[in-house]
Amino acid sequence: MSGVGWKIVILAIVGAIGPALAWDGGDVRVRNCNWCHGTGGQGYTVAPRLAGQRSQYIESQIRSFREHTRDNPFSKQYMWGAVAALAPKDARDLASYFASLPPRPANDGDTNLAARGRTIYLEGIPEANVASCYACHGPNAEGVREIPRLAGLSYGYLKTRLEQWGQGYHSGMGTPMPVVARSLGPSEVESLASYLSFVR
Ligand code: HEC
Ligand code: HEC
Repeated sequence: MSGVGWKIVILAIVGAIGPALAWDGGDVRVRNCNWCHGTGGQGYTVAPRLAGQRSQYIESQIRSFREHTRDNPFSKQYMWGAVAALAPKDARDLASYFASLPPRPANDGDTNLAARGRTIYLEGIPEANVASCYACHGPNAEGVREIPRLAGLSYGYLKTRLEQWGQGYHSGMGTPMPVVARSLGPSEVESLASYLSFVR
């Protein structure tokens, strides 16, 4: 093959794999997030796992941080600034990038509480007006569209989120979660967070 021919072949290959390479973990935009959200977006201390989260949910939360509707202390302290200058196109690209990564379950709940958590997740507690989570978050807590995946998020993050809605903090507009969370007592929150931390 002539020199020119080879160049065309090489350009075609680079063109085909270019977009994927631009979105590996080395991309500076991804590094800006993983600095807090951990290697591969798997979560680190108070920053939740983003890997495997629904892309529409990630985008909706970025909007809530930007509009300051998600207003709990860590959101204010860490996320309001992190997304302030993020272009909508980058938000969309980051959301689909993180959604495409395989999530690892945190497995850090209390195993003794997991069975009770599973029952509440699937059936709710009708006599106490606790809704089943399954109805919205899906049979394996995988989520759909703007409803987040809960499977395998860390115990501490899930527990804090559920407690904060009960304390009057906000997130998305029109979310049913404040009503759901206020119906849960401390032992229900601990059971649900334990169960969900083990779901793959
Ligand atoms: C300085 C640390 C920090 C940086 C940088 C950061 N985050 Fe966060 N992020 C957090 C923390 C802490 C939370 C948890 C907020 C809470 O407790 O409600 C969070 C929450 C989130 C959530 C909500 C997840 C959920 O399950 O509800 C999304 C989405 C998110 N971050 C995306 C990003 C993206 C995209 C970037 C990069 C542009 C980024 N973050 C950069 C610390 C950070
Ligand atoms: C009527 C539908 C509905 C029901 C029922 C429901 N959820 Fe949700 N849940 C949502 C939506 C929508 C969101 C996203 C909220 C937002 O945008 O702020 C959410 C968000 C969450 C989050 C935040 C996840 C994250 O990554 O920060 C947790 C935790 C959660 N739900 C737990 C539960 C549990 C536990 C139950 C059952 C007791 C439950 N949900 C029942 C619709 C529902």
